[in-house]
Amino acid sequence: MLDPTASTDVFRVRGGEPLRGTVRLSGAKNSALKLMAASLLCDGELSLSCVPRIADVPVMADVLRGLGVSVDLDLHAGTCRLRPGKISWHAPADAVSRIRASLSCLGPLVGRVRRARLALPGGDRIGARGIDLHLRGLQAMGATVTELDGEVEVFAGELHGAYLTLDFPSVGATENLLMAAVVAEGESIIDNVAREPEIQDLCRMLVAMGAKIGGIGSPTLEIEGVERLGSTSWETCPDRIEAGTYAMAAAATGGDVVIERVRPSDLTLPLIKLRAAGVAVEEGADSLRVKAGDLEAVDVVTLPYPGFPTDLQPQLMVLLTQALGTSRCTENVFESRFSFVTELRRMGADIEIDGHHALIRGPVRLAGATLTALDVRAGAAAALAGLVASGETVVRDVHHVDRGYADFVQRLASLGADIERAPLESLDG
Ligand code: EPU
Repeated sequence: MLDPTASTDVFRVRGGEPLRGTVRLSGAKNSALKLMAASLLCDGELSLSCVPRIADVPVMADVLRGLGVSVDLDLHAGTCRLRPGKISWHAPADAVSRIRASLSCLGPLVGRVRRARLALPGGDRIGARGIDLHLRGLQAMGATVTELDGEVEVFAGELHGAYLTLDFPSVGATENLLMAAVVAEGESIIDNVAREPEIQDLCRMLVAMGAKIGGIGSPTLEIEGVERLGSTSWETCPDRIEAGTYAMAAAATGGDVVIERVRPSDLTLPLIKLRAAGVAVEEGADSLRVKAGDLEAVDVVTLPYPGFPTDLQPQLMVLLTQALGTSRCTENVFESRFSFVTELRRMGADIEIDGHHALIRGPVRLAGATLTALDVRAGAAAALAGLVASGETVVRDVHHVDRGYADFVQRLASLGADIERAPLESLDG
């Protein structure tokens, strides 16, 4: 069930039940996968906790095993112990091509063995997702880059610090360049970096391993390369996107949900937008209570953190179909993230697309339909749409949702949702 490509299961959702109760969440997917990749830099053992029970984690473990890391993963306990042995520079293509996050092995491999060959990564179908910023940064640090048939090879006889300004605060490029720079010779200054909470988590863990990093959480990282990094134990930061997804689900269904193990400060803008849309949000130290109100239209623009996250845009779009008035949603990060609109329209949503802007008119009573999970977030949003629609909604290709949401069906069901996972063959006709 945890193989991201194997399952042909569907979700069957019958809408109309407001979500009520308490849900306790996992560690962040987009942190855990990078923390695991950072084990390549460790001389000793990296011991991670709060590792989420999602399908991408065992795939990442396979990628790392193929590179020579001994990985002891216990998904039930949420722990992962990683101990690098003799590190190979050529990552196994089959596992690498299955998750985009395997690209985060590039920086640490170049850092540690000064060489890497990786298949160009797979992952979600949400746009072109180039890696030019990763490669240009490594070149500035002294590496040569060769693109082969579906693979990229990077060689750095010498890896030195560099002064870099990224064209765009790319999450993946920031992480790769950071993980190369922490063990490069001399100082690096990387400007216009991404500063998502998951990147801050990675920076802080690297510091605990012995890295010298200044400016964590700011747009400029100052890094002094060190020779080696040592062992540490680290708790993966909470998943703000998972928390935001449950918050939108509570609000869209007219519910009242307490979300535990969340850092409200990671969700500043999503919470501002929820409140502006008429949702009551109470913030605790590591919890949120989200209570539905009379929903009103809001305008949202996706941007790198601390902007509104693109990873919550499809879920918000579902909520806005239930809000009074016309909302405008502008997508600036992934060009194809509006593909989900085609699915929502099949349920009766009134959404007009003009380039990277969407106009959502509401409220509209959505009608159950058969939808396809186009990627991890669109899949979660399709299930949310099912929770507010009349009749039955079937979500196909839910293996995408398995990649990023731990126990998704069980958690929604525990909040009173009428949702089940079923084999594709169970569908009539
Ligand atoms: N880009 C380039 N060239 C590059 C790097 C990025 O053109 O060298 C472009 C991409 O094509 C894209 C944009 O920049 O249009 C953003 O890419 P970024 O590098 O910031 O994102 P990423 O590292 O590929 C991570 C998350 C995504 C999340 C984005 C933005 C992981 C494994 N993935 O992707 O998460 O949407 O940052 O926050 O960390 C998800 O979890 O559903 C997901 C897609």
